[in-house]
Amino acid sequence: MTLGHVIRKVKTEDRDAVSAVLTSAFESDGEARLVQNLWEQHAIRFERLAEVSGVIIGYCAFSAVTCKPDLDGLLLGLGPLAVAPEHQNQGVGGELVKEGLKLCRENNARLIAVLGDPDYYARFGFEPASKKKMTWAGFDAGDAFRIITNADEKFDDVNPDDIRTIHYHPAFNDVS
Ligand SMILES: CC(C)(COP(=O)(O)OP(=O)(O)OC[C@H]1O[C@@H](n2cnc3c(N)ncnc32)[C@H](O)[C@@H]1OP(=O)(O)O)[C@@H](O)C(=O)NCCC(=O)NCCS
Repeated sequence: MTLGHVIRKVKTEDRDAVSAVLTSAFESDGEARLVQNLWEQHAIRFERLAEVSGVIIGYCAFSAVTCKPDLDGLLLGLGPLAVAPEHQNQGVGGELVKEGLKLCRENNARLIAVLGDPDYYARFGFEPASKKKMTWAGFDAGDAFRIITNADEKFDDVNPDDIRTIHYHPAFNDVS
């Protein structure tokens, strides 16, 4: 079934509706407050929403991440990603991710990270971060922490026993 939706940029006047979509998808306002914080700190690098007949039904954001030991270039983290419950499983989330990844590629992102369901994100090309000796700075998320990088990049300039930790914007630490 086609919803007749569009994927488009987010305008200032969309913010309340985006917050409502986030709250409905996550069943709490933690992610809505996170996005509000990221907006206030101008920390979102790319974001897109999905709209059908003037109603906002989905949202995704990409913000800068940092790495220790350092890596230069554009390093991004995907999240949050949300589709309103009544519109889920109709391809909207996938389109938001694909459109966001296209923007990342057009801007020569060196790395895109995500923390989430491994099966869902594998379909977009996200691979376990451990394959390139990287991990999330939070808890050990195993395969749920994934990255997309240029296949040719080995990132093997760290000590054999060392592993790079990836840090999201501090606002992510406050999500409850
Ligand atoms: C995750 C989410 C954004 C997916 O959006 P969507 O529009 O429903 O997804 P799509 O229609 O593009 O893809 C549907 C497929 O993803 C799978 N899928 C959806 N949500 C999933 C999840 N949380 N974990 C694993 N797989 C999931 C479906 O089973 C379906 O699989 P299929 O194609 O093999 O049938 C949406 O379900 C959502 O907002 N969930 C609540 C918030 C959330 O968990 N966000 C992600 C945080 S990492």
